[in-house]
Amino acid sequence: KIPVITIDGPTASGKGTVAQKVAQQLGFHYLDSGALYRLTALSVLRRGIALNDEHALAKAAEHLHCHFDGAHIFLSNEDVTQAIRAEEVGNTASKIAALITVRQALYGLQLSFRKPPGLVADGRDMGTVIFPGARLKVFLTASVEARATRRYKQLIDKGFSANIEDLSRDLKERDERDMSRSSAPLKPAEGAYHLDTSDMTADEAVQQVLSWYAA
Ligand code: CDP
Repeated sequence: KIPVITIDGPTASGKGTVAQKVAQQLGFHYLDSGALYRLTALSVLRRGIALNDEHALAKAAEHLHCHFDGAHIFLSNEDVTQAIRAEEVGNTASKIAALITVRQALYGLQLSFRKPPGLVADGRDMGTVIFPGARLKVFLTASVEARATRRYKQLIDKGFSANIEDLSRDLKERDERDMSRSSAPLKPAEGAYHLDTSDMTADEAVQQVLSWYAA
């Protein structure tokens, strides 16, 4: 059985960084499930699909022509690694992610990332819906302040402009939407280990996850 480690949590909790480093340490594959929702959002925004046209949104998710190459993410052979990180894309991703039809359309694609020797998957429902039989499940959190500061640094590093107050407000709105939706709401999976990373470095969080996995 191919081992899976799931790392779920709210927006900007540090899941992506921690999950990638854990995958690297173990030589496992990595699934950034949020990137699939962001890719769908980017495709939808570019094609001008209305956010209330559920049928067209699900079709866009189902026919997502994307591939991953190392740290690079491609949509129909265009490198969109940077473009999908824009806040507008993240906010749209969070809106369309509330639709069960969109989530179902991305289900099989997510399962296909599980390959030997193992997978580290990060998102909102990795442990609850996509990989409920995972070997280790982690629920990562951090205070709103810590998360807004991290997101701010990430955006500035990527060359976007940003403002902490707007980011804190967006974070809270997105958390609210992710937790209150009826399909795959954000919540800790059964048996998940909780990790509050507010006062931790990424490497300390990685060490904690690795020691849970080894135990
Ligand atoms: O960057 P951030 O942590 O906010 O989000 P992300 O992981 O890139 O995902 C973007 C959006 O996709 C989130 O706000 C969620 O609403 C949605 N998502 C989801 O519903 N389920 C997942 N497994 C991953 C992301």
